[in-house]
Amino acid sequence: MDRRDALRRIAEIVGPEGIVPPTEAERYLVDERRLYRGSAALIVRPSTVDECSRILAICNRARLGVVPQGGNTGYCGGATPFDAERHVLVVMTRMNRIREIDPVGFTLTAEAGVVLADAQAEAAKHGLLFPLSMASEGSCRIGGNVATNAGGLAVLRYGTMRDLVLGLEVVLPSGDVLSELKGLRKDNTGYHLASVFVGSEGTLGLVTAAVLKLFPRPRSTETAWLAVSSPATAIALLGRARDESGDRVVSAEYVSRASLELVLRHIEGARDPLDRAHEHYLLLELASSDAPAALREKLERIVERAAEAGEIVDGVLAESGAQRDALWRLRETIPEAERREGGAVKHDVSVRISDVPRFLALAGAELDRIAPHRRSVYGHIGDGNLHYNLLPPQEDPFAEFRDRWGAKLSCAVHDAAARLGGSFSAEHGVGVLKIAELERYRSPQALAAMAALKRALDPNGIMNPGKVIPPAAFASRSA
Ligand code: MLT
Ligand code: ZN
Repeated sequence: MDRRDALRRIAEIVGPEGIVPPTEAERYLVDERRLYRGSAALIVRPSTVDECSRILAICNRARLGVVPQGGNTGYCGGATPFDAERHVLVVMTRMNRIREIDPVGFTLTAEAGVVLADAQAEAAKHGLLFPLSMASEGSCRIGGNVATNAGGLAVLRYGTMRDLVLGLEVVLPSGDVLSELKGLRKDNTGYHLASVFVGSEGTLGLVTAAVLKLFPRPRSTETAWLAVSSPATAIALLGRARDESGDRVVSAEYVSRASLELVLRHIEGARDPLDRAHEHYLLLELASSDAPAALREKLERIVERAAEAGEIVDGVLAESGAQRDALWRLRETIPEAERREGGAVKHDVSVRISDVPRFLALAGAELDRIAPHRRSVYGHIGDGNLHYNLLPPQEDPFAEFRDRWGAKLSCAVHDAAARLGGSFSAEHGVGVLKIAELERYRSPQALAAMAALKRALDPNGIMNPGKVIPPAAFASRSA
């Protein structure tokens, strides 16, 4: 089928309502971090699985690339199309129905375009919890959460999206629909196919719906903002909190003083909750179905013992929902504060939790040798996942710093993580931004297995071309 013919037929399938006109294309073609400005032959917003299936079948026949997009909140350019002639951008936002909620089986079946916050709200309406949570939850979508194996703020307790997906509906590149939406807790009938697509960043198929795990809604939540003497003591304190609370810890987020200062400088209404400045903070949250007073007592006891052990230097426990929100805002607005400061060379590394202090020492020493910089370090210390971001010395322009030093500094950060057996991308994925890192840090065996999977499921290479799989590993007929 000829390219023009194919594009015309796709436009007919979605109808006028499903076509994004050039005047509205910008928001879909520019990524969240404004690293990329893409281009596409056509931007469509299908509204049914059948439409998706017909679109992919046509693209497969005409060898057109299909780039899936959810809320366009990704950090690695994974949802940006890069070919004005041969890429079709498939925006999933109209497929936003919650198909089913099963309060007995604790599951929710959502289409790919459901906003994460809407899935959470639907669960809450039934007195249940969908625990995936992150700053972008008001705009990111379930399909994107699946495709990137999203992490966020409650992984410590509930896991990443991979742990929360019971089944998927996926349109394969051929147009065939793979429907695995039974929502079974146990099913050992051969390969668990849904797992293959979680984290595949749209390179194997188009996710159209997911069955998600729900949990009992905690009746009480307690939050503390604690100044700790070092990241190592934050980890020791986390262990103590997990043990003494009966594993009620939901989040353990590390914030360095440098990151907090960016928030205090740029985010309206942000206040330091403590009287004196400290180098290291831990935002600790516990939740349970205990009565509120019981959980509060547990947290107070943990804090008391940690203070006696010298792990905590100072701290405050949230006294109200508003105070809890204010504490979380100090953590969640760090990326925004970095943007307003002029930008940062960002990293998203993970190591074993016990190796976090070694990683910080290794990376810090190496970076000091390379170039003057400021560090904004924060993140999910309870998962061993840090956002280790680098800014130019004050007053220096960010673009010059990034262009001159960015690659060298990033290499040093990633090498430090790799030396400890860690990951260069703990939660933000690979997309187009980190393909070279994938090639450098993953084993030849892993790369070969990924390329083999890609070739088997997408022999014509139409799904999200140029993303994740290094071109050398997939040297065949890609779209
Ligand atoms: C976060 O943890 O805040 C997010 O992963 C985003 C970021 O670090 O920029
Ligand atoms: Zn994060």
